[in-house]
Amino acid sequence: MKAEPNQLKPAVAPSILSADLTRLGEELKAMEAAGADYHHLDVMDGHFVPNLTFGPLLVEATKRAAVRPLDVHLMIADPLTYGPNCARAGAKWVSFHFEATPHVHRALTAIREAGASPGLALNPSTPVEVLETMLNYVDLVLIMGVDPGFGGQIFIPETYAKIRRLKKILTKHTDRTILIEVDGGVTGQNARELFEAGADILVSGSYLYGARDYGAAVANLKR
Ligand code: DX5
Ligand code: ZN
Repeated sequence: MKAEPNQLKPAVAPSILSADLTRLGEELKAMEAAGADYHHLDVMDGHFVPNLTFGPLLVEATKRAAVRPLDVHLMIADPLTYGPNCARAGAKWVSFHFEATPHVHRALTAIREAGASPGLALNPSTPVEVLETMLNYVDLVLIMGVDPGFGGQIFIPETYAKIRRLKKILTKHTDRTILIEVDGGVTGQNARELFEAGADILVSGSYLYGARDYGAAVANLKR
């Protein structure tokens, strides 16, 4: 019998991309007190996406400061090197982009061997059907609601149908529990529809870290 993912409420993962990084420890604690379930870390390399952020060093520092598990999202051209590094730095999940490498199976396996749960991220233009051959290897699928690289972009509405299609594929083709995460443009306006479409984890950067009241913002996503 397949163990169903969280059916009552979505889990919420604030992206530290929009946090005040001069006070990272306090920001992590404040989000945990507000009800955040995980911390989302956006690793960018200036190649796969036109922006550059941070790497395993900050994953490790975040791990020391956080109580909640870390969800690392690699937007980089070389997941095979840095995926296992981030796993060893203490991430619970490490996801990388399907579009970034021809060696998807190899990278998923390397991340698992390094001690994290592997996830595969898909850009808005990549159809969910590409996952069918990898269902035995992924623990999480990250569906982008925007093209990756920056916080604060507008959600692409075709993403709803994509999540519904993915949910059908997972129900039909695997007995494994594979979580669906959605990232990019998630706000209090679309959270409910995303959850109803099948999302288990809602990632949000600017909506959560830009809020005056973190507790109210997290509650809006879970409502
Ligand atoms: C975008 C990143 C997201 C980003 C989301 O490329 O992957 O995790 O932080 O930011 P918002 O919620 O502002 O779209
Ligand atoms: Zn992300």
